[in-house]
Amino acid sequence: MGSNGSTLRVCVVCLGNICRSPLGEAALRQAGMTRGFRLKVSSAGTGGWHAGEAPDRRSILTAKRHGLDISKQRAQQFRPGDFSRYDLVLAMDNQNASDLQKMAKSQNEREKVHLFLRNGGNVPDPYHGDASDFEAVYQMVKTAAQEWIEKWEDEMPAT
Ligand code: 4NP
Repeated sequence: MGSNGSTLRVCVVCLGNICRSPLGEAALRQAGMTRGFRLKVSSAGTGGWHAGEAPDRRSILTAKRHGLDISKQRAQQFRPGDFSRYDLVLAMDNQNASDLQKMAKSQNEREKVHLFLRNGGNVPDPYHGDASDFEAVYQMVKTAAQEWIEKWEDEMPAT
């Protein structure tokens, strides 16, 4: 699985890379680790306003409540050249997915873009919300992360 051998390379993308995708990155890494799945996961934003910044403190606190430390993550903007570094690019909402699709330079790159939620839903931006909105984001990405790992395990060739 994954084009560099057996490690799947995934980038989780939202708008600012400070609220949703840092939680998505952590949830996916945790789900992969728990099940021993070989995964390299990163995150980015379609916008660059927060590049270099730590995640929003409310995301850091939400992750901490669930035993995850995301405080060392630093925001980065997703660039067109980044498509070649990943097998899959998972978007938090339809706008993120649409922006990524526009950035893609080939059919192969466009096909790397999927919504993070496996049911096709959007993870709402909690930036202007409160702690309960961040907790809701975490619950959504945690469930979806487990579903992705299960799907990838199913797709792995039997050895
Ligand atoms: P995120 O939330 O996309 O989940 O990281 C946002 C954070 C900041 C901004 C927008 C969304 N912003 O416009 O600064």
